[in-house]
Amino acid sequence: MDQDSVEQAKKTAAILAVKETVKNNMVIGVGSGSTIIYAVRELASLVSKNGWQIVCIPTSYQAKGLIFDHKLPLGSLDQYPVLDVAIDGADEITSELSVIKGGGGCLVQEKIVGINAKNLIIIADWRKVSTHLGKNWTQGVPVEIIPEAQLPLILKFEKMGGKAALRQGISKIGPLVTDNGNFILDVDFGKINNPEKLSSQIKSLTGVIDSGLFINMVKKAYIGQKDGRVEIITKE
Ligand code: A5P
Repeated sequence: MDQDSVEQAKKTAAILAVKETVKNNMVIGVGSGSTIIYAVRELASLVSKNGWQIVCIPTSYQAKGLIFDHKLPLGSLDQYPVLDVAIDGADEITSELSVIKGGGGCLVQEKIVGINAKNLIIIADWRKVSTHLGKNWTQGVPVEIIPEAQLPLILKFEKMGGKAALRQGISKIGPLVTDNGNFILDVDFGKINNPEKLSSQIKSLTGVIDSGLFINMVKKAYIGQKDGRVEIITKE
């Protein structure tokens, strides 16, 4: 795979999404991952060019850092519980705009910000698009859990037909600890035929904070293509 064309696709999708979506005086949710970096750069350039007053609400420590580094105004959900828009990346997305997120471990804060935005926009490159969730993204549905519930939940997921693996830290021995001090189980359910049902089944388990299944949340996605175009998928 040509890494340059992947980065170019992320960039063109992010720039177009910001250009078409963000306006003066908006409260904007800033997602996490590598694609969002291009969106924040574009946001910073629009703000400095036009003297816009915006507020950015982060979805992770990474997002907070990006907002600071680009000298954008930082806000919180305590001050702005309703956002105009949130822009975020995805690990996998279908043409119905069902999404898996959480590859970077920030799914809970991303979901809180996204669900409280009038509009959640996804930016991604073509590799993320799939006919069914769980087809391209084979490492499993990220599920943030209370650490003590790890083993009981692994057994419960097994009964549901899911194979759960405790996500490990990188450059750290032992499990990954999320921004919220929790663990992540990556639960492989194979190809997911009914993401809505699976999402509520997972969410109903005690010890689960939330999953990376973002269902009926996204209305628009900007998908950067290999040939430089950006495909826009919308849902009313
Ligand atoms: C973070 O937890 C994730 O949900 C990211 O938004 C997702 O993994 C997309 O990341 P990239 O933009 O790096 O593909």
